[in-house]
Amino acid sequence: MTIRADESPWAPPPHAHLWPDTARVDGAGRLWLGGVAAARLTGEFGTPLYIYDEATIRARCRAFRDAFTGRWLASAVAYAGKAYLSPALCHILLDEGIELDAVSAGEVGLAVASSYPAERIHLHGNYKPVAELAAALDAGVGRVVVDSLEELERVESLARERGRRAAIWLRLNPDVETETHAAVRTGHAGSKFGLDMAAVDAAARRAAASPWLELVGLHAHAGSQLLDVRPAVRVTAFLCTAAARSRDTHGLAVREISPGGGLGVAYTPGEAPPTVEEYAEAVTGALRAGVARHGLEPPRLVVEPGRAIVAHAGVALYTVGPRKRAPDGTTLVAVDGGMGDNPRPALYGARYHAALAERMTAPAAERARIVGRYCESGDVLVEEMMLPLARAGETLAIPVSGAYQLAMASNYNLAPRPAVVFVADGRARLVRRRETLDDLLRAEVMDRTD
Ligand code: LLP
Repeated sequence: MTIRADESPWAPPPHAHLWPDTARVDGAGRLWLGGVAAARLTGEFGTPLYIYDEATIRARCRAFRDAFTGRWLASAVAYAGKAYLSPALCHILLDEGIELDAVSAGEVGLAVASSYPAERIHLHGNYKPVAELAAALDAGVGRVVVDSLEELERVESLARERGRRAAIWLRLNPDVETETHAAVRTGHAGSKFGLDMAAVDAAARRAAASPWLELVGLHAHAGSQLLDVRPAVRVTAFLCTAAARSRDTHGLAVREISPGGGLGVAYTPGEAPPTVEEYAEAVTGALRAGVARHGLEPPRLVVEPGRAIVAHAGVALYTVGPRKRAPDGTTLVAVDGGMGDNPRPALYGARYHAALAERMTAPAAERARIVGRYCESGDVLVEEMMLPLARAGETLAIPVSGAYQLAMASNYNLAPRPAVVFVADGRARLVRRRETLDDLLRAEVMDRTD
C-alpha cells in the first residue's frame, strides 16, 4: 500500500514526549512512525500490532551510556530483557554496546541464538531451576546473580562439576521503601528478592573460601517505574557500605556494584519522571560519595534499565470495533486487543494515553473508556479519557507500549499474540509474525488417547 504524506508541514504529535522520537503527524493529521505511515503498517501487517521505533531505542541506549560513562568512566549499561526481548532488539543492543540482564534460560537462550555474546549476560532470578542454572553456566554467562544461600551452594557445585569458576554477584535486600505500585516494589524487607545482611555475611564467607566461586560484585534493586531518584541513591549508598563490610570482614574486593534499574517513564501527559541525566547524576553521585566514605577501590558500575530504554519506542495499534454507552455517559470503545497483549492496566492499575492514528489532531469530542476484546470486565486499556468520536474500523494508537506488554502477553481466550514490526528510516520490517491457530495448537497433544 502506498501512502503519500500530505504536502503540508509535518508536526510532532500532541503530547510528543509520550511518542517515539520519530513520530510525526502529516498535514492530513495522520500518524507516521520511523518515516512509515501507521496506515501502511496496519494495512500490511494487520492489528493488534506493536511497532518499535529503532531510532528511539538507540537514542535511549546512547543516552544511558553517555550519561553514565560521562560521570563514572567504568560504567556499563545492562538492558533488563524482561521488559521486552527479541532477536532484533539483541542486535541493536550489541551495536550500541549494551550488556544484558536475563532472568531465565529462555532469555539467555534467545539472546545466544541471536548471536548475543553470553559473557555479556548476567543471570538474575530468585529461583533459578537447576537445569536453567546449568544451561546458563554451559552457555558461558558472564555473571550469575546469587539470590539465596541454597543457590550459592548450587552454583558452587555446578561450577565444581564443570571444572570452571563461576563469577557471581550477590543480590542484597536493601530494605528501601519506594512510592510505587506494591507489585513492582522489590527492595523492601519482606520482599522475596535478595539476601539479608546475615545471609550476605555467610555468602561472602563461603565465596571467599571457595576455589569455585569468584565474588565479583554486589547488586540490589529498589523497584520499578520510580518517579524519584532517591531509592536508587539509597540503594547505591547501601551497596557501598556492604562492599566495605565484605572487604573488612572477609578480605573481599568488590569490583562491581549494580544498583539495578527502575527509572520510570511518563505514560500519560501529566507525568514527569527524572531524566536519564538526573538519574545518572544521582546514582554516580551516591557512588562517588560511598567510595570516598569507605575508601573503596572504585568499582565498575552496572545499571540495568529496562522500561526506560524501550517503553517510549513502542506503540500499540488496534482496530476500533463496537461502541456502547455506559449509564454514566461514558462511551465504551472496544478494540481488537486488550489484556492479552497488555495486562498492565488490569494488574497494576496502569494508566495510558491513546489517540486515533488517522486523526491525531482532531478535537476531543467524548469521554471514552477503551476496552479490550477479552471475556472479562476488567479488560480495560484506558479507564477514561477525552477522545474524538472513534468510529469502527479506525486505528487507535497507544503510545509508551514498548515495555512489559509483549513480554507479559498471554494467549488468554486463545487469542494469538500480535505481530511486531520495527521501523527505521522509512522502512518497516516484521520481527515477529502474528501467531496463528497452528502456533496455539502446537504444544497440545491432539491424539485421543483416552
Ligand atoms: N533489574 C532487576 C533486578 C529487576 O528486577 C528489574 C525489574 C530491572 C532491573 C528493570 O527494571 P526497569 O528499569 O524496567 O524498571 N512488570 C512490571 C515491572 C516489573 C519489573 C521487575 N523488575 C510492570 O509492568 O510495570
